[in-house]
Amino acid sequence: MLKPIILEGQKILREKSQKIDNFQEKEFKTIIKNLRGTLKKTKNGIGLAAQQIGANQRIFVIDAELAKKLKIPDVFINPIITKKSFRKEKLEEGCLSVPEIYGFVKRYRQVTVEARDENNNKFILTTKGLLSQIIQHEIDHLNGILFIDKATQTHNIKPEI
Ligand code: CO
Repeated sequence: MLKPIILEGQKILREKSQKIDNFQEKEFKTIIKNLRGTLKKTKNGIGLAAQQIGANQRIFVIDAELAKKLKIPDVFINPIITKKSFRKEKLEEGCLSVPEIYGFVKRYRQVTVEARDENNNKFILTTKGLLSQIIQHEIDHLNGILFIDKATQTHNIKPEI
C-alpha cells in the first residue's frame, strides 16, 4: 500500500526505533509491504526506513532493482554495522523526508552490516559505494538521525545521479 512519506519536523523521525522480535506478526509483514510499495512509487528514492511511513520499527528497504542487481535482500531488519573503514568520503545525498534539500555527508567508505531478512535469516554484507552510503543513511534514520544533522554545503540543486 502507498503511504504518505513523513516529513522532517515530525517527532517519529527523531525517535530511536524498536527492534523486531516477532517475524510472524501480521503488522510486521504489512510494514514491509508498505515500505516496498511506497518506495517503488517515489520518483528517485533508493532507500526508505520504517519511521518514514510512521512505523517505529528497525526495518528499512532499498530499491528492489538495485537489490536484484547486487543479488542481496531488499529488506534489512535489525541492521547493525559491525565493521567500518577508517577512511571516510564526502558524498552528496538527499532524503525523501527532507524534500528539495541536498548536501554532503561524510560516510565511511566501507561498512559491514549484519541484518535479518523478512524470514529471519541472518545475512552479512561488506559494502562500499552507493550501497554503503544508503545503509549508513537508513541506519541513521532508525536512530532518529537525519542527513541534514551531518550535512555541509546544503543546497537545492538535485545531484545528477
Ligand atoms: Co532518508
